Amino acid sequence: MTTILPHGGSLVHRLVTGEQRDHLLETAKGLPAIPISNWAISDLDLIGVGAFSPLTGFMNEEDYRSVVDRMRLVNGTVWSIPITLSVAREQAESLEIGEQVALVGEQDGVIYALLEIGSVYNVDQAEEARKVFKTDDPEHPGVKKLLERSPYYVGGSVQVLNRPEPARFKEFYFDPVETRRIFAEKGWRTVVGFQTRNPVHRAHEYIQKSAMEIVDALFLNPLVGETKSDDVPADVRMKSYLTLLDNYYPADRAFLGVFPAAMRYAGPREAIFHAMVRKNYGCTHFIVGRDHAGVGDYYGTYEAQEIFSNFTPEELGISPLFFEHSFFCTKCGNMASSKTCPHPKEDHLTLSGTKVRGLLRDGICPPPEFTRPEVAEVLIEGMKQQVHN
Ligand code: ADX
Repeated sequence: MTTILPHGGSLVHRLVTGEQRDHLLETAKGLPAIPISNWAISDLDLIGVGAFSPLTGFMNEEDYRSVVDRMRLVNGTVWSIPITLSVAREQAESLEIGEQVALVGEQDGVIYALLEIGSVYNVDQAEEARKVFKTDDPEHPGVKKLLERSPYYVGGSVQVLNRPEPARFKEFYFDPVETRRIFAEKGWRTVVGFQTRNPVHRAHEYIQKSAMEIVDALFLNPLVGETKSDDVPADVRMKSYLTLLDNYYPADRAFLGVFPAAMRYAGPREAIFHAMVRKNYGCTHFIVGRDHAGVGDYYGTYEAQEIFSNFTPEELGISPLFFEHSFFCTKCGNMASSKTCPHPKEDHLTLSGTKVRGLLRDGICPPPEFTRPEVAEVLIEGMKQQVHN
């Protein structure tokens, strides 16, 4: 069965195994070492397995500038988020183009990869922030992360020698080559990818199921890398997804696998990035709802949908499915959006994130029209554990 082409045409594979790996690990010991954060390890791993195809390493200066300025790699391929490796200034000054370096976990000392230095460059992070995040406000969680890093970047292709070990839910980690194989084995021609960093509430379920009416299957692909501290932790969310799938989704049309990337909170640009990556995992469609990957009031409700009009369907390769703000309407007696419901706001059940968190913290299930009770129970339990820890 033919599957959707990866972004850029072929799936990148930068993992080295067997004797070659042993040899390179030996070589790495004698090379200059660049300490890398957990975030960089996660980017590195996603490059290694081809989730970030066509990237073969951390971006060189030309691609970085092209991505920041025009949302494309130098060769014209659509790419909206810089994937960069930041190093301390002193180290940047000691590196030579063409040299091999070892990328070593700053916390665990593991040699994760070799990188061949293609460029060493210094960037204006405030400008990067304004172009990528549309703000340089240090309160924005993505901008904050960006500004905490050194403005010296190193680009170059990588050879991945070790992979991070998931602490939990290992059985839900699949590389793009695996998801592609699984989707094909199941005979799914069309698969819709769903990104989330939250528990799946009824509005999420509604847009997923609306999409499922027109495609063969759903790939529920929650992001489980770094998120901001007030987001629900990934292991609690995983339990909630499993409960929900068990109770409310057809097992032969829904598939759960994690997306081990860090959350950027870059709204519109991150929506494009999320779509390209899901294409690499083998999805043909991708859901973009209200304020996708947004935070606070930095982005307009539908900006993450509008940004797709900058690109042709051929350039994107994956079809975005756009959904309006969804809610339970008490008059309609079902889930709806402004596209399907004629009733005024007063008839709609809407709860803010803060309100829902407050209810759950007090051990109270939000209304079932907002969150399935089975999911609410898992979240309440998760909150209790957090308080104890
Ligand atoms: S995100 O940062 O991962 O985008 P979240 O997990 O809340 O946040 O959203 C997952 C997806 O569901 C996104 O595409 C988002 O736009 C969409 N979404 C979330 N809530 C709603 C809603 N009430 N109505 C329509 N779409 C929504």
